[in-house]
Amino acid sequence: MTSDRSVPDDLSRIDGLGFVLYRSTARPGLENEDMRAILKAARSRNQMLGLTGCLHHEDGLFFQWLEGPGDGLARIMASLKDDGRHDGIVVLDQGPLDRRRFQDWHMRFSDRDHASLMDWFARSDTSTVHPAEYAGGVVSFMMSMAR
Ligand SMILES: Cc1cc2nc3c(=O)[nH]c(=O)nc-3n(C[C@H](O)[C@H](O)[C@H](O)COP(=O)(O)O)c2cc1C
Repeated sequence: MTSDRSVPDDLSRIDGLGFVLYRSTARPGLENEDMRAILKAARSRNQMLGLTGCLHHEDGLFFQWLEGPGDGLARIMASLKDDGRHDGIVVLDQGPLDRRRFQDWHMRFSDRDHASLMDWFARSDTSTVHPAEYAGGVVSFMMSMAR
C-alpha cells in the first residue's frame, strides 16, 4: 500500500486496482433505515463498478475502505463528497493496491454493536496520532472482522 497525500484527486489515474480509506462524520440523527438505504444503493452500484470494501459506523463516524478500478473509485468519491448523510470527509490513505482485501463484499457493514474500532485501538499498540499507523490500524481492524 502506498499513497501520495499531496495528490488527492489522482484516483482515476490509477492503472488497475486501487483503494481509498476515508473517515467522515455521520449526519446527526441517521437512523437504521438510512443505513439500510445507503447500503442498498452502495451494494448495487459497487457491483456495477467492480468495487468491494467495508463500511464501519461508530460513535457518529464512518470509516470506509473502497477498492477496485481507479475510475470507479473516483466516481464514488465524487458522489460521496456530495452526499448530505455525512460530511467532513478525511482521506486517511489512498493509492494502488496489489490484491483485494474484501473480494467477497460489495460493501461489508459493521457497527459498534458488532465490533468497536475504538476498543481495538485501546487494546493495540497502534498509534492514532501517526497518520500511516492510524490508517493501517483501521484496515487491520476491518480485516480482522471480515475473517
Ligand atoms: C457513508 C456512506 C457510504 C457510502 N458508500 C457508498 C458506496 O460504497 N458505493 C456507492 O455507490 N455509494 C455509496 N454511498 C452513497 C453515495 O454517496 C451516493 O448516494 C450513491 O452512490 C448515488 O450517487 P449519485 O447520486 O451520484 O448517483 C455511500 C453514502 C454514505 C453516506
